[in-house]
Amino acid sequence: MDHFLYRDGALHAEDVPVSEIAAAVGTPFYVYSTATLTRHFQLFQDALSGLDHTICFAMKSLSNQAVLKTLADLGAGMDVVSGGEYARAVAAGVPGDRIVFSGVGKTREEMTQALQGGIRQFNVESEPEMETLSAVATELGRTAPITIRVNPDVDAKTHAKIATGKSENKFGIPISRAREVYARAAALPGLEVVGIDVHIGSQLTDIEPFRTAFTKVADLTRALRAEGHDIRRLDLGGGLGIPYTRVNEAPPLPFDYGAMIRETVGDLGCEIEIEPGRLISGNAGLLVSRVIYVKSGEDREFLILDGAMNDLLRPAMYDAHHDIVPVVEPAPGADTSAYDVVGPVCESGDTFAKGRHLPQLGAGDLVAFRSAGAYGAVMASEYNTRPLIPEVLVKGDQFAVIRPRPTFDEIIARDKLPEWL
Ligand code: LLP
Repeated sequence: MDHFLYRDGALHAEDVPVSEIAAAVGTPFYVYSTATLTRHFQLFQDALSGLDHTICFAMKSLSNQAVLKTLADLGAGMDVVSGGEYARAVAAGVPGDRIVFSGVGKTREEMTQALQGGIRQFNVESEPEMETLSAVATELGRTAPITIRVNPDVDAKTHAKIATGKSENKFGIPISRAREVYARAAALPGLEVVGIDVHIGSQLTDIEPFRTAFTKVADLTRALRAEGHDIRRLDLGGGLGIPYTRVNEAPPLPFDYGAMIRETVGDLGCEIEIEPGRLISGNAGLLVSRVIYVKSGEDREFLILDGAMNDLLRPAMYDAHHDIVPVVEPAPGADTSAYDVVGPVCESGDTFAKGRHLPQLGAGDLVAFRSAGAYGAVMASEYNTRPLIPEVLVKGDQFAVIRPRPTFDEIIARDKLPEWL
């Protein structure tokens, strides 16, 4: 459920007409709904109530400061994967003891930054990383709290580019070797082993792969405890999928996910962490764009928008589907046309949808891409020297630009000429 609904014939973001924002900031832009972000975060809180738990928002999905602060004020922690994300989380006021650090390639600099600034735990992904972290912590006179990410060799049944829990993926250590690796970690002077981490992939629409993975983690918890490790925290990662089409799509709800967590690991007495990204931010955002031209091809109509693949990469990168809706509500039974919906970027991959049936549209009309809050703005680039588009946050009847559109001068001024030119 989200808060982008038609009211009085016009698409609204909460109580604000989307066309009003377009008039104020120009197109294209992203708009996020505070009520939707809050609702989705709260669904996880409710799903895990009664369990000792922390929800660490996977901020890679949407990392604007205003969004982070909205969630942090509700009690969210953050899952960060780079020094930049760590700095953003801290700048948004997230205390270090609510930040977990994931990722296969943490550098010494990133480790130092997080150890000095405060960290809940590092989710360590390999033996070389473990050795490095121990050395860095020891040099700083500190101890690094760690979980070790295990790769449970479970098929997440999602898009290959976002599945992470099979043995062929680069993530974690094979669960079959976990006992040996935990023994090594326990012997390293700079580390304190606090738990186990697992994350098997993103946009999972079936709960069974989670159940299989978490059952393996529960077994491993018992085995490691029997060997003397104080396993007191389980980080179960993120990955719960969202409906992108609203038709015949019913991914499991946070409530079902919470029940499954209770069933698989609830009796271990561990603190539970989860790292949801998309389920909190995905349906909390729209990308709003304007039709520049409707162009008739040999056998098709092209809807040429001012938004492009550099603004929303998901269709080009994963063949992802995003619902596209007109900002003016179509009359019931209005004629539709099939459009290839494209952007202005100079490559054919700049296609959002092929043969999409939409109400008939003309130059100047506004359209909105739904479910664009997660992995939208954060994956944008300035390809074709198209400025990163503004982000807007709505709360009730108020809206604020939370990242302005840079000017061409600002973009150009970032380049520096060497002295010989
Ligand atoms: N934790 C870890 C360690 C992760 O790698 C990820 C996502 C998450 C949590 C959050 O997963 P979520 O709840 O959002 O599914 N760009 C792709 C998605 C990449 C996901 C990467 N890792 C897309 O647009 O579909």
